[in-house]
Amino acid sequence: MIDSEEVLLPQAARDEPELDRQLRPRRLDEFVGQAQVKDQLEILMQAAKMRREPVEHLLLCGPPGLGKTTLANIVAAEMGVNLRVTSGPAIEFQGALASLLTSLQDQDVLFIDEVHRLQRAVEESLYPAMEEFAFDFVSGKGAGAQTIRLSLGRFTVIGATTREGMLSAPLRDRFGATFRLDFYQPEELRTIVARSARLLGVEMDQDSLELISSRSRGTPRVANRLLRRVRDYCMVKSDGRIRVEMAEEALRLLEVDEIGLGSSDRRLLSLICQQFGGGPVGLSTLGAALSEEPHTLEEVVEPYLIQLGMLKRTPRGRMATAGAYRHLGMEPPTDGSGAAVEVMGELFGAEP
Ligand SMILES: Nc1ncnc2c1ncn2[C@@H]1O[C@H](COP(=O)(O)OP(=O)(O)O)[C@@H](O)[C@H]1O
Ligand SMILES: [Mg+2]
Repeated sequence: MIDSEEVLLPQAARDEPELDRQLRPRRLDEFVGQAQVKDQLEILMQAAKMRREPVEHLLLCGPPGLGKTTLANIVAAEMGVNLRVTSGPAIEFQGALASLLTSLQDQDVLFIDEVHRLQRAVEESLYPAMEEFAFDFVSGKGAGAQTIRLSLGRFTVIGATTREGMLSAPLRDRFGATFRLDFYQPEELRTIVARSARLLGVEMDQDSLELISSRSRGTPRVANRLLRRVRDYCMVKSDGRIRVEMAEEALRLLEVDEIGLGSSDRRLLSLICQQFGGGPVGLSTLGAALSEEPHTLEEVVEPYLIQLGMLKRTPRGRMATAGAYRHLGMEPPTDGSGAAVEVMGELFGAEP
């Protein structure tokens, strides 16, 4: 049959640094923030345990680094079942999905990362699998074709996506519950950084804790990454203890600014402000100018800038707000362009 190694170990999982895994909360009560999501998950899991059934299929949505993979791991651990990890693009054809599904044990969790990138045919054979725990094989061709139905054990699909809007309606409908993860609050990030520092055995003062948390784009993965980089810097430059002056220096070296924006954030904003008069400018134009994949800009860079109110998505393209100009140390335009148009957009609906 098909080599399931390939299906089970998508690039993303292989590339995941060991430390990311080391810092990952294992249990729901270690998972910081997202209180609503946690409360609902808790009930879903309890109810499933009482019925001795697998948890309903779950869809986790949100920008990268907010805890989707972590939550999938937690659900499997809390339910005491195995987690199988794959991703939309890793399942290349129906047979690969069949081999994956038939290898699951009763109540196991199948985590499908980037579930919006499933191939059409694979997605369609996932429907009966999710709904009726059955896999339909078609044997033969044309008039003589026959469908052979294979019944599967009961399992839970947890899908993760950074692009909820790209999911087809039929796939979306097959998930029993959808959870949207938000950017984290400063105090939640402080808890996360303090926990990670403890796990890494790093000593740090309160000011450094606040500094790193406030510059991590509301994102636990970024917070942990900054912590490690600052720790490295302090190890090389002094005794390894993190003190705020050194942490400041390290962040400056990493080009992380006072509100946590990195160089790609600032490049995007200044491109719109300087080259395109504040916008609107199309995503593909921005991608070409920055040599970035448009979908990376859209999924990784833009969400936090939108959350900060520095960037707007309009039907005619991206626009920088007055806040973006000010952050870059520029005067927002007051003529009919850029930031002024954005005000009109607010007055007259989405179309500026
Ligand atoms: N709520 C949380 N509490 C503590 N740490 C978290 C939380 N969410 C994410 N993390 C940390 O951030 C890292 C990235 O999370 P991950 O689940 O891989 O994000 P995603 O799958 O959404 O991209 C994890 O390794 C974990 O250490
Ligand atoms: Mg993930």
